[in-house]
Amino acid sequence: MTNAYIAGTGFYVPPRVVTNDDLRTVYGLDTTHEWIVKRSGIEARRYSDEGTATSDLALEASKHALEDAGLTPRDLDLIVYASLSPDVGFPGGGVYLQQKLGLCDGADAKFVPALDVRNQCSGFLYGLGTATSMIEAGVYKNILLVGAELHSAALDWTTRGRSIASLFGDGAGAVVLRATDEDRGVRGWWLGADGRFADVLSQKIWDLKKRPFMPVNEHGVGQVEPLMMYAQMDGKLVFRHAVERMIGALFTAYSAKGLTHDDIDYFLFHQANLRINQYVAEQLGIPEHKLLSNIQSYGNTTAATIPILLAETARSGKLKRGMKIAMVAFGSGFTWGSAILDW
Ligand code: UT7
Repeated sequence: MTNAYIAGTGFYVPPRVVTNDDLRTVYGLDTTHEWIVKRSGIEARRYSDEGTATSDLALEASKHALEDAGLTPRDLDLIVYASLSPDVGFPGGGVYLQQKLGLCDGADAKFVPALDVRNQCSGFLYGLGTATSMIEAGVYKNILLVGAELHSAALDWTTRGRSIASLFGDGAGAVVLRATDEDRGVRGWWLGADGRFADVLSQKIWDLKKRPFMPVNEHGVGQVEPLMMYAQMDGKLVFRHAVERMIGALFTAYSAKGLTHDDIDYFLFHQANLRINQYVAEQLGIPEHKLLSNIQSYGNTTAATIPILLAETARSGKLKRGMKIAMVAFGSGFTWGSAILDW
């Protein structure tokens, strides 16, 4: 049987570090370092400069992942690009990344398909499931899967938006999934969604039910109200559902594969809130040293959290061949997912 394994990982975060104190002193956010750390565990995040696109972050992460896999862009058969913050409304970011990777250049241009995944915090796991299936089915051999987000362009640093503005940061993570006949790689993936909660964590920059779809002034210039321009979230409701769904997603994976916590070497949870992850781990009796975290440094980078965490962990040398990894995510939609991998 053909398996899909992660042959290379990479990540990129913009160099500008924004601490919790910077949010207060530089951005004027009505907050404190203590509040943010106590509620979320976040100490800092990275912001991009004006002129940077999400696909620029994705490009750097992808270059690292390709290099780590010993491949070049022309070895790729497919790009899967997960993001809730694409460069523009459409097209999706996958084609911008394809172009920036140089795949459209020269006589040997390779016009690989570019698939955009729109499942927010669960985007990486939705992408992993899609890419794995394509490899297992023998359709493709080498797939670049990227999670990339640029939140800093659309945060509301007034008191109205502080519960969201304090959480999110920019970054990208990438993996190269390859076909192998060896007994390793992605062992299974399980996804879910509950559209009843679609509005609970959303950004409705426009509403196509309306005519015109966006309010316009007397000059025909579109105007976006703050409530539409910025993400809106019922944080407490998200928190509650995140805990329930993440535990459920993990148990679904365990029962499908006959596993317990003892079989797992590392847990890579979506980095939305350290308290959510610690609570889930506590409820399940997962030992602290198995729960990997980097939200302290990067905040919530949505679809990018898991691949950034994976790439950092791989780079640190902690991952050894044969180790079992569990990934779990939950977020806007609501959507969620889990995956089990043998490294
Ligand atoms: O990846 C996407 C998934 N998203 C998540 O997983 C987020 C899940 N939710 C959460 O992590 C938490 O709900 C938050 C960290 C967002 C908020 O924590 P909370 O304990 O639910 O706080 P809250 O929203 O109920 O706000 C409590 C108080 C409010 O003040 P009053 O009304 O009690 O006077 C807020 O205005 O804290 C205030 N507040 C802040 N204060 C200082 C909200 N944000 C801030 C802030 N700094 N940044």
